[in-house]
Amino acid sequence: MTTQADPAREIPLSDLRFWERPLTERAAAFAALRAHGAPVRFPDPQIPFTKGGAGYWALVRHADVVEASRNPQIFSSEPNATTVIDSPGFVDKYINSMINMDDPRHAKIRRIVSRAFSPRMLAKTEDDIQARAARIVDELIASGPGDFVAKVAVRLPVEVICDMLGIPDALHPRVVRLTNIVLGNSDAEYTGITPEMGKLSTGRGLVKVALASRELHRLAARLGRERAGNPTGDLTSALVNANIDGERLTTQEFGTFFLLLVVAGNETTRTAIAHGLKLFTDNPDQRDLLLADFDGRVSGAVEEIVRYSTPVTQFRRNLTRDHEMNGHHYKAGDKVLLFYNSANRDESVFDDPDAFDITRSPNPHVGFGGPGPHFCLGANLARREITVMFRELFTRIPDIRADGEPDRLLSSFINGFKRLPCTFTAP
Ligand code: HEM
Repeated sequence: MTTQADPAREIPLSDLRFWERPLTERAAAFAALRAHGAPVRFPDPQIPFTKGGAGYWALVRHADVVEASRNPQIFSSEPNATTVIDSPGFVDKYINSMINMDDPRHAKIRRIVSRAFSPRMLAKTEDDIQARAARIVDELIASGPGDFVAKVAVRLPVEVICDMLGIPDALHPRVVRLTNIVLGNSDAEYTGITPEMGKLSTGRGLVKVALASRELHRLAARLGRERAGNPTGDLTSALVNANIDGERLTTQEFGTFFLLLVVAGNETTRTAIAHGLKLFTDNPDQRDLLLADFDGRVSGAVEEIVRYSTPVTQFRRNLTRDHEMNGHHYKAGDKVLLFYNSANRDESVFDDPDAFDITRSPNPHVGFGGPGPHFCLGANLARREITVMFRELFTRIPDIRADGEPDRLLSSFINGFKRLPCTFTAP
């Protein structure tokens, strides 16, 4: 079924201004792309210092996103899975981590690091996450209503990942500032650069990303040096001293993985927690359902928050050979973007996909990525943080709610809220 003559023209995904549109309008545009019936090819965004190419196919249907994710030999993460356009070398050297690799390079690093994220290791951090969430809510109650993002959503994820890596508390604000630049670089608030300033300014934005990434690498190197041979029990100690069947992380691998963790570990979960409050405010029946049986319904609620908000909008894959998928022919060298936001609203998989329904079952969302080797390493940690945060909030200040609209991050990659006013009755 074809609903539009030229969807690529009518729905300008490669134009940053498209991502400013209201969330409902964006969702409607992706519904139109799904209804279009065939994958649509979009032009690459124009970015100085980068080699644009022949554009990318937008994979907007659940079946396509799932199939591409589980076929890494054909849908490769190399040379890049995180940016639409290959980053120039001066950025790439800092950010080219395992998320941008295929096996066997990817498998080697994932083997070394995945132990730290096993359910057994996570169980050890349980009390710590709980204590931190309790302190955050203490301080929220003491300071009163205000910006939920700064007072709550930012804090737990950054504190938890920094704690795991052994980054001292005093450096948390710096980590937040730097990861905001790395992931929020399309938003003028973090780089001082607006689209209206022209193409060269976008290039200056990349330089800012490189400088912020270099600062994180230097922090990683310093902590790594301190822990090498002198382990303190944190993840940095485990990673720099890891030797599994003779396999070690190189300094470069450790630096890029450290950066990936601090970025992925806080921007994404922050986004889910902030959307969660807005969703429970807009859907009071769902809040009542959750409060009526918190322990029985919270895991469904967390999955539904991640499906509905889809904190990470898309990742990329690169065709290694000619391939036919769901009736469409792709050529070797083609680029595809996996639009998780769209797959998560696919009406052929989810009944009433635009409804926020914490009892949805099954809920085969792809918010943590599709099935395959790159499935989110931090998914269980993120689920735990979101659960603990809402348990603490709804137990102590059950009427907490968003008090207005969010100030949204301008990004085609992270569906973020920069600020969200909240209000509540103090106990
Ligand atoms: C709600 C929160 C989160 C969301 C929505 C999310 C989303 C994702 C997605 C979509 C991928 C798949 C990438 C791909 O297929 O190319 C991914 C991978 C990854 N995530 Fe998460 N993530 C979240 C939280 C976290 C946390 C808390 C951490 C770490 C502390 C983390 C670390 C990672 C890492 C290391 C990978 C790469 C795995 C690999 O390449 O093998 N994520 N995440």
